[in-house]
Amino acid sequence: MLSNFKTESKKLAIHYFVVAVILFGAQLVMGLIAAYQFLNPDFLYGLFDFSTARMVHINALVVWMLYAMIGSVYFLLPDETGIETVGIGLGKLGFWVLTLAVTIVVGVYILVQVGPADDMTIWLINEGREYIEAPRWADLGIVVVVLIFVFNVYATAIKGERTGIMTVLMADLIALAGIYLAGMFFTQNISIDQFWWWWVIHLWVEATWEVFVGSLMAYALIHTLGAKRQVVEMWLWIEVAMLFGSGILGLGHHYFWIGTPEYWWEIGALFSSLEPIPLVAMFVHVVYDWGKEHGVREGEGLKKVMTNSPAFAWLVTNAFGNFLGAGVWGFFHTLPQINLYTHGTQFTSAHGHLAFFGAFATILIGMFYMGVQKKNNIKEMRMTFASKMAIVLLSVGVLGMTAALTISGYGQVMVERAQMGATWDGYFAAQNTVWFIQGLGWRFVMGLVTITGFAFLVYDLLTTSKSERHER
Ligand code: HEM
Ligand code: HEM
Ligand SMILES: [Fe+2]
Repeated sequence: MLSNFKTESKKLAIHYFVVAVILFGAQLVMGLIAAYQFLNPDFLYGLFDFSTARMVHINALVVWMLYAMIGSVYFLLPDETGIETVGIGLGKLGFWVLTLAVTIVVGVYILVQVGPADDMTIWLINEGREYIEAPRWADLGIVVVVLIFVFNVYATAIKGERTGIMTVLMADLIALAGIYLAGMFFTQNISIDQFWWWWVIHLWVEATWEVFVGSLMAYALIHTLGAKRQVVEMWLWIEVAMLFGSGILGLGHHYFWIGTPEYWWEIGALFSSLEPIPLVAMFVHVVYDWGKEHGVREGEGLKKVMTNSPAFAWLVTNAFGNFLGAGVWGFFHTLPQINLYTHGTQFTSAHGHLAFFGAFATILIGMFYMGVQKKNNIKEMRMTFASKMAIVLLSVGVLGMTAALTISGYGQVMVERAQMGATWDGYFAAQNTVWFIQGLGWRFVMGLVTITGFAFLVYDLLTTSKSERHER
């Protein structure tokens, strides 16, 4: 079913995937340093502070995911349009420019770390906006590279065939790229600054990235399971309508306490509580296709079609993870009455970890497996011992961190907010409770489990070509 690895677009996709995996590794190392600094604040103090480790941790997260997303689009373009990507030479140039820029930015983060509070810092060191700290020169470079990428996608889709998946992606990518601009300008007023910053962060993860994941899921189900295009595309349209319906005004759940008008309480409460609904639809979508396709084929006496077991296993993890991390852990604290108590505690961090992992890391890892399959020309790819260890340890590790952080957050909510009324004293008292401290200890242990899973993943991706278990 899968054509051979012969398009330049697919080769470029692998380049993007390789950098994504390297940055994923860097993200985890930084997370472990930051987690250890919670337990032993003297560790690297003055040399590589918590603030820097945390910054590199979450910026590497965003950048590796963007790399994997761009790679995934270059990967699926030839299949969805039936032709080689238009402007692929420009696309390759864009890749090298972006990678050079990212290398310099990370080098500056690690070596220079901070600068004076003036324009020079914004232009050359970092912009100080959580998750998207890249200095302005790099922002402008990113805009140019993304323009090339969007041009490639549009030119290819206009020249070749245009499937439902492509139509959704074309609309989504414009929104995804356009919103980035909202996080690029500086204002003196912290409320206004946060107002626009959330446009990038929330409208990325809860609207445009989720729609992107829906398209990837549709593509991946067709290619791993042989799902029917009409069925997955029908789901895709429903999900897009629902995701945008609740995700856009759901933005209000970040406008409760930053100085924005009070009507956001109602808007945020209503629309953000609807957000889990599309996530349930996405979950049902995967499970339904899985059951239906298998049932039908077995019923007809046909052999089961499963061209890539590890990729599919990650798709299932995505369906669960997206629902749990974003839907359930998000819903927990999305009403203002509850958020008053949980805002900015470790509870938020628990949700942040499970949502980013469950909704995005999982499916992007699935795409890495699709890349490896194509690169090594494997017809049916099975799970190896390392594939199983990778999925189990990564999932258990992140779920374990989530559980640990939820308990720490619970300590903060009870002691700092409920008992001591969110006072300065309460803040410190909460951090000395056994709930809080043990939770953070377990988070570190589970972080070690996570990184071990990552090591298995890298090993598996690198050695798949040598494994004898696959059918070629
Ligand atoms: C894949 C989708 C999602 C991702 C990746 C995600 C990620 C995050 C992250 C990282 C934060 C912390 C931001 C910060 O640093 O301040 C956050 C905050 C928040 N998220 Fe999500 N989220 C997702 C979906 C959802 C959904 C569907 C809901 C609600 C149903 C939700 C509700 C919230 C709320 C209320 C906050 C604010 C927490 C606070 O006040 O401290 N999220 N999210
Ligand atoms: C080795 C495993 C990991 C460790 C030890 C770790 C540790 C940490 C630490 C210490 C922080 C700072 C929390 C704070 O400021 O209170 C953090 C933040 C964060 N990490 Fe991780 N992390 C790991 C893996 C991951 C993974 C796999 C993801 C997602 C795919 C992720 C996403 C995030 C996000 C979104 C934040 C910001 C959360 C917020 O502000 O609410 N981390 N992590
Ligand atoms: Fe949000």
